[in-house]
Amino acid sequence: MENFQEQLKDRRTFAIISHPDAGKTTLTEQLLLHGGVIREAGTVKGRGSNKLASSDWMAIEQQRGISVTSSVLQFDYEGKRINILDTPGHEDFSEDTYRTLMAVDSVVMVVDAAKGIEPQTKKLFEIVSQRGIPVFTFFNKIDRDARHPLDLVDELESTLGIQAYPMNWPVGSGHILQGIYDLRRQELIDFPNATPHPEVVDETMDEVELLQDAGNDFDQEAIAKGKLTPVFFGSALVNFGVTEFLREYLNYAPSPAAAKTVDDREVQPEDEQFTGFVFKIQANMDPRHRDRIAFVRIVSGEFNRGMDVTLQRNGKKMRLSNVTQFMAEERENVQTAVPGDIIGLYDTGNFQIGDTIFSGKKAVQFPELPTFTPELFNRVIAKDVMKQKSYHKGIDQLVQEGTIQLYKSWLGSDYIIGAVGQLQFEVFQFRMENEYNTEIQFEPMGSKVARWIDPNQLDEKMSSTRNLLVKDRFDNPVFLFENKFAMNWFMDKYPDVELEEKM
Ligand code: G4P
Repeated sequence: MENFQEQLKDRRTFAIISHPDAGKTTLTEQLLLHGGVIREAGTVKGRGSNKLASSDWMAIEQQRGISVTSSVLQFDYEGKRINILDTPGHEDFSEDTYRTLMAVDSVVMVVDAAKGIEPQTKKLFEIVSQRGIPVFTFFNKIDRDARHPLDLVDELESTLGIQAYPMNWPVGSGHILQGIYDLRRQELIDFPNATPHPEVVDETMDEVELLQDAGNDFDQEAIAKGKLTPVFFGSALVNFGVTEFLREYLNYAPSPAAAKTVDDREVQPEDEQFTGFVFKIQANMDPRHRDRIAFVRIVSGEFNRGMDVTLQRNGKKMRLSNVTQFMAEERENVQTAVPGDIIGLYDTGNFQIGDTIFSGKKAVQFPELPTFTPELFNRVIAKDVMKQKSYHKGIDQLVQEGTIQLYKSWLGSDYIIGAVGQLQFEVFQFRMENEYNTEIQFEPMGSKVARWIDPNQLDEKMSSTRNLLVKDRFDNPVFLFENKFAMNWFMDKYPDVELEEKM
């Protein structure tokens, strides 16, 4: 067993971001194969039309019969312990996806090499880039006809505003794929069973020369700050370039980082005091159980089962005995864990998103997790007016948990809920019915552009049907613009008014 310091050094905690269909699941599966967690690639999930709406991880679990949870995968590879945090991309896209990105030390961005940067990739990248953490890019599907790599790298740099450093370079793609050229080792890795096309190799070598003369320098500090992204090419499906990617990734990706507290102290992962924060709360969807799991990212110190901690928000003391960690083989009853690891605490309603827990006497508080600008809105009403009490209680608690965001009309008392993904509404409705026994009705408002406005600059007359004035749950004024045009029109009309977007 490695000692604490070594365990720390060998941890890599990351998430994979991508646009749906770019190959995140396929790459994950290949990584699991590398880690020996599964033995063959194949039917991780329903392909084609019957894509599962549930998390890809759940699908892995169901179909492979292995114990992974729907949220964190842990495996070992070449002496490193890897934690991959799930960031659902499809129907189950939600604020949880964003919050999960607050709990990782680096990110792998998978891009379809035939399509380039797609909208969801851009959105997720923007959330990540605010944190200034390393991003590693994997251009996938080069076994199919791909766009020209120079073109892809150009687009990556201009669309995302990050510099790129190609670690390798595809030699052809699709039926003329010859291999990938490792730019640092200066060697060609042959694509197995390629049909030889010497002219493709020649052309590519010219390009490579150009790249080496004119490209960005390899700058580890810039990578660490998320200003330069190492770029890889490969095919997750046929497992080409994945091993090379994984090796380099593990080499350059950071181990668990220090974190700032609200009073601007730095908590180091190797500190003796155990600290962590809750970044996600998952309700048990089984209506017979009302328990939830609070996901805690460990920031410092060693976790030991049965240890006593304090919940910073209310000073409540608790013993952490009913804890799950997301091991590949044995999920239940984790004994120890270190910074970078995620532990799941069975929760009966104690925790909120963003909560800090710590051992010992010295109080620690990590900053709140950012609020994300919702894009979809619904008016919500209780079907049964007699159930106002449980209706309000349910809304209060689910809002605190971060299931959805709550707004009220500026005058009057209409409830409006906002989310970044449709699934959040469904979860909200389901839980209102099952946990609070309240049927609710939505009146869809569609997508809106939400912007906060300084109360001192607010004039109620500014509001119109195209920019609805509401207040958030802290009573701050917010405009819900019908679309970007309506917002631009508003800004032209009131050039002095400042509109603020959350993350
Ligand atoms: P996602 O999780 O990012 O949504 O993507 P996923 O891995 O499910 O991959 C989406 C589709 O792209 C899958 O096909 C998958 O087989 C394919 N794919 C992934 N990586 C590669 C690759 O490197 N090369 C090629 N050629 N294809 C890749 P599908 O459309 O769901 O199934 P099918 O109808 O093609 O069987």
